[in-house]
Amino acid sequence: MREAVAVNSGTAALHVALFALGVGAGDELVTVAHTFVATAEAIVQAGARPVFVDIERETFGLDPARLEAAITTRTRAIVPVHLYGEPARMDVIRRIADARGIPVVEGAGQAHGATLDGRRAGALGAIGCFLFYPSKNLGAAGEGGIAVTDSPELAARMRLFRPHGERERYHHEVIGCNYRLSAI
Ligand SMILES: Cc1ncc(COP(=O)(O)O)c(C=O)c1O
Repeated sequence: MREAVAVNSGTAALHVALFALGVGAGDELVTVAHTFVATAEAIVQAGARPVFVDIERETFGLDPARLEAAITTRTRAIVPVHLYGEPARMDVIRRIADARGIPVVEGAGQAHGATLDGRRAGALGAIGCFLFYPSKNLGAAGEGGIAVTDSPELAARMRLFRPHGERERYHHEVIGCNYRLSAI
């Protein structure tokens, strides 16, 4: 991924990603319930509604066989979560998503360094969201997170949302948050 936007938690990484994709009221995001609450929480914070799909036994990730049935005309993004260092079946998930022009946001907060067919989890969708909570797979000096993407446009929107929607000092272009990563 060419762009990386550092933020102050994994939840913030998800929230900036959803903002960048234009997620808002009336949207549905297909995700899993078998994750930390933050995945669905970020979706609701963005104004959208989580639509839960069951996981599959082999990967503990979103079951691609159940994905199509959950997609509606309101589906704005798909948010699989890679748990226990085990990537969800992103190849099949992407095939289904790409055929409909729906972006995939990866919850990769528990999959640092994991690979699928030689490609890194978190680099298999439009945006990959990592976290650096100290007791997790890769800890920071305090809380932290990062959202990675190949799209300069999505990265620019994430960087805008992170400091209160401010690009130029005291000029606030959008309603954002304070998601700056601590300097340390
Ligand atoms: C899969 C997953 N996503 C998101 C989060 C939220 O990360 P943070 O606690 O850094 O906000 C967690 C935290 O445990 C997580 O396990």
